Amino acid sequence: MKMRRLGRNGPLVSAIGLGCMRMSNIMGGPQPGPDSDLESVATIDAALEAGITLLNTGDFYGMGHNEVLVAKAIQGRRDHAFLSVKCGVQRTHTGAILGMDGRPNSIKNFAAYSLQRLGVDYIDLYQPARADPSVPYEDTIGAVAELIGEGKVRYLGVSEINADQLRRAHSTHPVSALEIEYSLASRFIEREMLPLARELGVGVVAYSVVTQGLLAGAMQGGEVDEALASSFPRFQGETLWRNLETVGFLERLAKSKHQTPAQLAIAWVLSRGDDIVPLVGTSRRSRLLENLGAFDVALNTEELAALDQAFAPGAIIGTRS
Ligand SMILES: NC(=O)c1ccc[n+]([C@@H]2O[C@H](COP(=O)([O-])OP(=O)(O)OC[C@H]3O[C@@H](n4cnc5c(N)ncnc54)[C@H](OP(=O)(O)O)[C@@H]3O)[C@@H](O)[C@H]2O)c1
Repeated sequence: MKMRRLGRNGPLVSAIGLGCMRMSNIMGGPQPGPDSDLESVATIDAALEAGITLLNTGDFYGMGHNEVLVAKAIQGRRDHAFLSVKCGVQRTHTGAILGMDGRPNSIKNFAAYSLQRLGVDYIDLYQPARADPSVPYEDTIGAVAELIGEGKVRYLGVSEINADQLRRAHSTHPVSALEIEYSLASRFIEREMLPLARELGVGVVAYSVVTQGLLAGAMQGGEVDEALASSFPRFQGETLWRNLETVGFLERLAKSKHQTPAQLAIAWVLSRGDDIVPLVGTSRRSRLLENLGAFDVALNTEELAALDQAFAPGAIIGTRS
């Protein structure tokens, strides 16, 4: 497995991480049944077997359900996994988001529950999922720094914050990784956040690399999961059809190279720098194996330039949330 360093002085992790979120129901209501859970655990298992170390989860993914799946998969081989855990998003039983709780005591409390559910003595990378506007960010980050001092967390990560918050976090405690959306369809970080992460020596963990299936060709007939369509304007009505036309370029290029659109989309993120680690989000072994084929994709200068043009910032329309 190819490895990449998360941040200038951070840990080495697999160059691709596994995003576990969709193994749980994050929208409220019942969690997936036993058959689905079995496939999810088998997918994490297959990822570890393939040499993937970075497993991305969050305590609010299915109200702990996601961490329980991860716990099952890593049993007996804790040392093979690099556990990245987000915390702090508050939801009701219907899945409605109440906000973010970044109070220091809450962060320590969330960590205690996560350690218990995961069945581990420490978390490798711990990330407040968002900044809580009612708490000074330094206080939230300070709580993670204290957990690091106690040996319960190894590295600090942050997620979906702005430039000012990244600077403030990094001056409170060295940040190893910024988790943020980045793909051919969503290139906003190239303007400010990516240059800043590079200036500070913070690694980037890229999520939604296949744009929830859009760049994988999964929506080609216009079929989009109802919950996705209602949450993301880019998957709605005429906007979706225009985006599918843009994605057609990726599909044609993939076909000409005997690869899949998902493999190309992931390979493109890999090509953006050794300081970026893309997450592949899947709950199925077949797709995991397909997506890991991204390592075998070689994109030449002409192909990269063509992708750059077809997916120039703003080419995929509709806001991301
Ligand atoms: N920090 C944050 O705020 C944040 C936000 C969102 C997500 N994340 C993390 O990032 C991870 C990935 O994000 P994501 O799930 O939003 O986006 P994603 O990886 O772009 O998309 C995942 C979706 O695409 C489908 N898919 C994956 N590979 C495919 C393929 N080869 N062909 C067809 N469909 C394919 C998956 O379906 P199947 O499962 O059925 O394969 C899943 O529904 C999450 O698991 C989570 O850990 C972080």
